[in-house]
Amino acid sequence: MRDVDARRRVHDLFLKANAVAAAMFPHEKQDLYRSFKLEGIMEAPVNLCVTCDPDRARPVVIGRTHIKTMDSCSAVCAVQNLWLAARAEGLGVGWVSILDQDALRQTLGIPEPIVPVAYLCLGWVEGYHRQPELEKAGWRQRLPIEDLLHFDRWGGTDSQDPLLDWLRNDSQAVADGRFLADRLDP
Ligand SMILES: Cc1cc2nc3c(=O)[nH]c(=O)nc-3n(C[C@H](O)[C@H](O)[C@H](O)COP(=O)(O)O)c2cc1C
Repeated sequence: MRDVDARRRVHDLFLKANAVAAAMFPHEKQDLYRSFKLEGIMEAPVNLCVTCDPDRARPVVIGRTHIKTMDSCSAVCAVQNLWLAARAEGLGVGWVSILDQDALRQTLGIPEPIVPVAYLCLGWVEGYHRQPELEKAGWRQRLPIEDLLHFDRWGGTDSQDPLLDWLRNDSQAVADGRFLADRLDP
């Protein structure tokens, strides 16, 4: 997305969608919501719209025979790869998802059945938050890890498994892959 006017049209879509979004939250949270910076469409040097064509390899696609939404998942993985590569280069990425998808499709002339999956803003950023921004702002708190981890089946618990302790006390080891390395080492 190189053209300034085209970007401005997307920015207008964001403003419209964001006003609707703000009104969806409880009254007492709306001012805080409106204080968040949720896009960088006009400032970011690079805007990128990632699309997915569900018909590209039809009629039958390996990996999509049963879960039809896997094509979107693949596109999102590609976005994540781009995100990690950008961060490794010292760049920031922002995903602007507060957009009416049909309006975005129309604005960019994207034909059916192609889906606009992600609208991304890339560029140099002023800095990174040590703590997740929404947590710092008191919007939502981090959930306890034990509520999110299930062993072997939904709701399955295992107080002996060291993973919980690792996650609670040494999450850096998990992020670094040391936890996995320990488990894989016979
Ligand atoms: C699927 C998805 C949708 C998102 N939508 C928005 C959004 O509409 N506005 C926004 O400010 N951040 C959104 N984010 C979060 C930011 O893009 C991202 O967390 C932020 O730019 C900080 O980047 P970092 O996580 O690399 O530090 C979204 C993230 C994801 C994964």
